[in-house]
Amino acid sequence: MDKSKSPEKRADALVAAMSLDQKLHMLTFSDPPWFLYYGTAGHITGIDELCIPDLVLSDAGSGVAGLQYGTTTFPSGVAQASTWDPQLQRTIGRTIGAEAHAKGINVMLAPGMNIARTPYNGRNFEYFGEDPYLASQTAVSVIKGIQDNPVIADAKHYALNNQEIDRMTVDVRAKERVMREIYLPAFEASVKKADVGSVMCSYNKVGGKYACENPTLLTDYLRDDWGFDGFVVSDWGAVHSTAPSANAGLDLEMHAFAMPTPATPVTGTGGRFFDAPQLKAALADGSLSRARLDEMVHNIVRTMFRHGLFDHRTDQNAATYTSDVSTPHQAVARRAAAAATVMLKNRDGLLPLPKVAGGRTIAVIGWAAGPIGAMNSVSGGGSSRTGLPGRVVSPLEGITAQALENGDRVVYVDGSSQADAVAAAAAADLAVVVANDGSSEGADRPDLGLHPGICVTIFCQNLPIDQTDLIAAVTQANPDNVVVLDIGAPVKMPWLDRAGAVLVPWYAGLQHGNALADVLYGKAEPGGRLPQTFPVDEAQASFPAAQYPGVGGVAKYSDGLLVGYRAYDAHQRTPLFPFGFGLGYTTFDYRGLKVRPRGRTVKVSLVVRNTGSRAGAAVPQVYVGFPKKTGEPKRQLKGFRKVRLDAGESRRITIRLSPRAFAHWSTKRDSWVIEEGRYKLFVGPDSRTFPLKGAVRLPRTLLAK
Ligand code: GLC
Repeated sequence: MDKSKSPEKRADALVAAMSLDQKLHMLTFSDPPWFLYYGTAGHITGIDELCIPDLVLSDAGSGVAGLQYGTTTFPSGVAQASTWDPQLQRTIGRTIGAEAHAKGINVMLAPGMNIARTPYNGRNFEYFGEDPYLASQTAVSVIKGIQDNPVIADAKHYALNNQEIDRMTVDVRAKERVMREIYLPAFEASVKKADVGSVMCSYNKVGGKYACENPTLLTDYLRDDWGFDGFVVSDWGAVHSTAPSANAGLDLEMHAFAMPTPATPVTGTGGRFFDAPQLKAALADGSLSRARLDEMVHNIVRTMFRHGLFDHRTDQNAATYTSDVSTPHQAVARRAAAAATVMLKNRDGLLPLPKVAGGRTIAVIGWAAGPIGAMNSVSGGGSSRTGLPGRVVSPLEGITAQALENGDRVVYVDGSSQADAVAAAAAADLAVVVANDGSSEGADRPDLGLHPGICVTIFCQNLPIDQTDLIAAVTQANPDNVVVLDIGAPVKMPWLDRAGAVLVPWYAGLQHGNALADVLYGKAEPGGRLPQTFPVDEAQASFPAAQYPGVGGVAKYSDGLLVGYRAYDAHQRTPLFPFGFGLGYTTFDYRGLKVRPRGRTVKVSLVVRNTGSRAGAAVPQVYVGFPKKTGEPKRQLKGFRKVRLDAGESRRITIRLSPRAFAHWSTKRDSWVIEEGRYKLFVGPDSRTFPLKGAVRLPRTLLAK
């Protein structure tokens, strides 16, 4: 407990003082497992005589979840990515970490960062979209925020866990270059740029080996190449062996339950692989060395020292469990929800709603707009959901509150009767129709429709109805309409031509209704930009079964580097809305591109001008076009900045591109290579609009791993 010593030294002293049984105790979950311990995901009870605190792990990316009470549900991962705002993302992470610590939790099993390879993945809502650079930047910001507290963050699910169908067994096969360039960068950045304290190995296999016993993933890439020095924790029930897992690089086993087995009829350690009997057997037969065992314990306790868990202890008890820690964070949740909202359409400046003399009648339509519907779409289903969510502000409540302030009147129709919804829309000055598509861990989406989810604690199930017809009818009944989509991933929009405005708040958290009203009335602008391409329909987002969901238990990632917009560019397809797209309440133009190689980075600068009549934020994005000989996709996001400007204001902004922005993975050289040649630069507001173009010539360079 000598704080003047390094985490390394403190861990050395502690491990040296531990008995074998005390070491083994640290390597698997303690009983009672899962939610039975104060609603958390898992824990290891502390060892008082060694001053080791409880290690208490909880989900997840949109707030302290599981069977927790009194915590805030923030906008989900895809919404956080949609802000394209590192500072705000760090604030969200910091606030989540603060609530975790206040609830006696010191490991947050977040953020999830798997790439949205298809729009069907049931967990896309938890993750940061289809692009490795945006996902990396978002992950780094959120992890730094969480770890601004004495709380360890967790980069998950490592790796290539991009579907829920057969998630426990699917064997993903991808070329190393595809893994390095598309599926691993967010994990690499989490280690190298955010010093993430833990990494969670995933359920699936990669290249024929389960991720949690895969030395290529857990040692070669993670530790040897990237220098990770935290601990590797399994997903719950993702361990399939004792010595092979330990020797591959797994440090800590977690599971939701433990069943009695013939060997352990009483202690219920079935379903475990890192329990004392099996670890001792592995030590005895030499398949596991004492040195590796000590290293596993050292990885855990050193990380606990480094992140302040010994020096800033938390406490799990009835008082902690029943405390409500959410109230001070509602302002952050509200600001984040507006900043994440993507406005896809705003015909004739319908929004923001101007004040009208005598007020207007607004028909708020849809089950999702009401308190029950909003409760269901406050987040997606599964482990990242708060089983006992706090009070959500529904769209109806939020709009009603601000309508009153503006002298407007609100009529509500839940949409169960389309005739009533149409009548209300036709009779109103404005129709706001809110729809939800539920998505959840454990299942992939059946299509790109709008199937509302209903949830009981963390478990959600989609209703067999589709709100597409309701939206079509309402937008037909009144051209002055706003369509609000509470979704976790892209949906099709056959009614788009008749929509007046389209807003995508994603799963917006407890402050959904207030943030939506702030956007409708212009107190806040919709600050989001798409982190996922929106296909026109399922035909545009189809995959051969061998690629997704796989055939014979194997999913071949033969789509290679062509993921998301990279595929749309390669096949010259026009999506419904492109990656990076989003409208605000003002307009911008981009001028004066300058491209300057500066040592090992390339400095891109441009002048952004607010050409509208309101303050607002632009998100200039820089896409790099590699020389053809590299075989890289046509364009790839390698830099962006969110810049806020007053009406008429212009500013020169700089975006620095690191050497990695121009590198591709060379399997032959087993390293990153910048091929000699001319690199094009495309600068614009989304992945299909480039008012500025430039280029830079670079020499051939090998980069470190
Ligand atoms: C779940 C999820 C993982 C979560 C863990 C604990 O199955 O895959 O994201 O952190 O188990 O709840």
